[in-house]
Amino acid sequence: MLQANGYIGVPQNRVDGRAKVTGAAQYAAEFDAPNLAYGIVVSSAIAKGRITSIDASAALAVPGVIQVFTHENRSRTAWFDRSYRDETAPPGSPFRPLYDDAVVYSGQPVALVVAEEYEIAACAASLVQIEYETDTHLTDIDLAKNEAYAPPRKRSGVKEPPSPRGDAEEAFVQAPVKIHHEYRVAIEHHNPMEPHASTVIYQEGGKLVIHDKTQGAQNSQSYVASVFGLSSDDVQVVAPFVGGAFGSGLRPQYQLFLAVMAALELKRSIRVVLTRDQMFTFGYRPLTIQTISLGAGPDGKLQSIMHDAIQTTSPWEDYQEVVVNWSNLLYHCDNVKLTYKLAQVDTYTPIDMRAPGAAIGVTAIETAMDELAYATGIDPIELRLRNYTETDEANKKGFTSKELRACYQIGAERFGWSKRNPEPRSMRDGRELVGWGMATGVWEAIMQKTAARAVLTQDGKLEVSSATADIGTGTYTILTQIAADTLGVNMEDVTARIGDSSLPKSPVQGGSWTAASAGSAVQTACQTVREKLFKYARQMDDSPLANASIEQVTFANGKILLTNDPSSSVTFAQAMQAGGVDRIEAEEKASPSLQTSMSYSGYSHSAVFAEVRVDEGLGIVRVTRIVNAVAAGTILNPKTARSQILGGVVFGIGMALEEESMLDHNLGRFMNHSLAEYHVPVNADIYDIDVIFVSEHEDKLNPMGVKGVGEIGVVGTAAAIGNAIYHATGKRIRDYPITIDKLL
Ligand code: MOS
Repeated sequence: MLQANGYIGVPQNRVDGRAKVTGAAQYAAEFDAPNLAYGIVVSSAIAKGRITSIDASAALAVPGVIQVFTHENRSRTAWFDRSYRDETAPPGSPFRPLYDDAVVYSGQPVALVVAEEYEIAACAASLVQIEYETDTHLTDIDLAKNEAYAPPRKRSGVKEPPSPRGDAEEAFVQAPVKIHHEYRVAIEHHNPMEPHASTVIYQEGGKLVIHDKTQGAQNSQSYVASVFGLSSDDVQVVAPFVGGAFGSGLRPQYQLFLAVMAALELKRSIRVVLTRDQMFTFGYRPLTIQTISLGAGPDGKLQSIMHDAIQTTSPWEDYQEVVVNWSNLLYHCDNVKLTYKLAQVDTYTPIDMRAPGAAIGVTAIETAMDELAYATGIDPIELRLRNYTETDEANKKGFTSKELRACYQIGAERFGWSKRNPEPRSMRDGRELVGWGMATGVWEAIMQKTAARAVLTQDGKLEVSSATADIGTGTYTILTQIAADTLGVNMEDVTARIGDSSLPKSPVQGGSWTAASAGSAVQTACQTVREKLFKYARQMDDSPLANASIEQVTFANGKILLTNDPSSSVTFAQAMQAGGVDRIEAEEKASPSLQTSMSYSGYSHSAVFAEVRVDEGLGIVRVTRIVNAVAAGTILNPKTARSQILGGVVFGIGMALEEESMLDHNLGRFMNHSLAEYHVPVNADIYDIDVIFVSEHEDKLNPMGVKGVGEIGVVGTAAAIGNAIYHATGKRIRDYPITIDKLL
């Protein structure tokens, strides 16, 4: 079916690459409108309490200031209680900007200053005088954890920990070898290059066209329509390009609310852009206290796994992600107990960040497994092979496919693992200690119901569209490849349109599901166009295909030809002429197979190998080599897929060594809210990253066998680095990031 031009599975340049590097690609804050006004958000200075007074008179006196919106004069159009919609929201009641005088977290938006120019709004914002009455806040998880609770309402799509099996506590007591430790990964903020921004264009009659920084145009659309009581016909959200998001754009953020509110109130177009500081005033990867107990025999075989996690959420929503389930999914064990609890702190609700849950849960379990390798004297790969499982034991299902063994083997070969002396501090190069470590990675292969449209015109051009997004992942390119291959046209003749709420229905881009979901939808729509086209071709007078079935023909180079007699062919144009049409259009939906999900579990897997060099005197760590061997089913485009894994690995290096949002618990505030103080890896921190796609035959999840690669690259990387640091230095750090102070 997909043979035609053979674009799939072959490296392809990004079809949107030129637009991006030439500046032709427009982002949310770059769209212009006549008479555009600018809004600047004023953020609260306290973490908890009440606003006793807001004096905007000095701000309003600045020439060019149009209005200052606060809880005292905000419009009453918002009606969160009855019809709030956000497909990605956790259970609870959402944060409502400017709702009343209550301050519930530090950095909360408390006013919006609107002016004729950005600089005027920024200046006036500094003149808004706010008095507060402070209340006691709590931001420290170590104090909040005593009140931790199992979430009463489950977040949709988040699997709760499976029920205990066997008797993990007793088995742990009896086990000859025991590992029992607490693991932490610091709070992280997403910090995409493009800050959150909304440009709301107010049209005659009150219709809104909104350029929003979002991973889901339709999610932002339904949020705006429901919150402001508008008809969805009057709200169009457009986000063709997104400058990174990593999960921060899954939920509509407060700048969208504020910009729409001001536009409706002022009947005027307005743009609100968050500052880099303000990028630290909404969701984050939550701090999680994880306790892992592993009991094993001297042969390394696991006899007991216990993994408990306590994770922060806000007082108003029960944020949830899958932290602990991975422990049992990765390894065979008869006695397993997993628990997951939430502790409320006075911050904004956390939000998914690349491989939410897995990125931190697997970091903990894979560090603990390395400790078990040392405790038993068994090579870390051998230990994992001895505990390998061919089934999802908690759910008693087989895997749709699982080439993790091959990841270990091929990754180890490429890395040169067999040359490793397991003794810590045994390798040295000048003043640097050298260490090699490895870890396993895993991520769920998800598919979501998604629709797509395909339109073929007589000039041989094909347009495919879906409301899905491309947050830098390469979606434009893979959709173009799939469409071109399915209909047998050149990629240059295909246009993919996405990121617009008016296009066929799609969920947010997230969970690494877009390639499988939007990809399958585009494939299905193009197949329908194929069938229609073929029908016309057969109807043509003296058609050489009159007696052929669709299985006997090939679609290639704008023609339908008999596969075993290519000289017999009909061009697309001839077929359409015969059918008396100048365009063929089809809209189709693709959904995950219920049968598959009832019988199988679908996951992608990886084996990550890291080499570090640690300056013994200074404690500086360099990650000089990473090999990441990934099994993720069909790789549609090895070039853009490799970029996804590279990005994930860089994220993992950040998690291992640098990224940490620091709370001052006295102020209840994140203190390092800039890219100068919140450290992410830069080019100088990155050396060799070798990405291997291990061949994996997948035929159950979707027709193309796609699992997705947006998130698996980060999973396991931090643990591999931490394990390499232990091998280099003999120091086991269980509190990520492993900064210099912890190593010296
Ligand atoms: Mo991803 S954290 O699902 O955008």
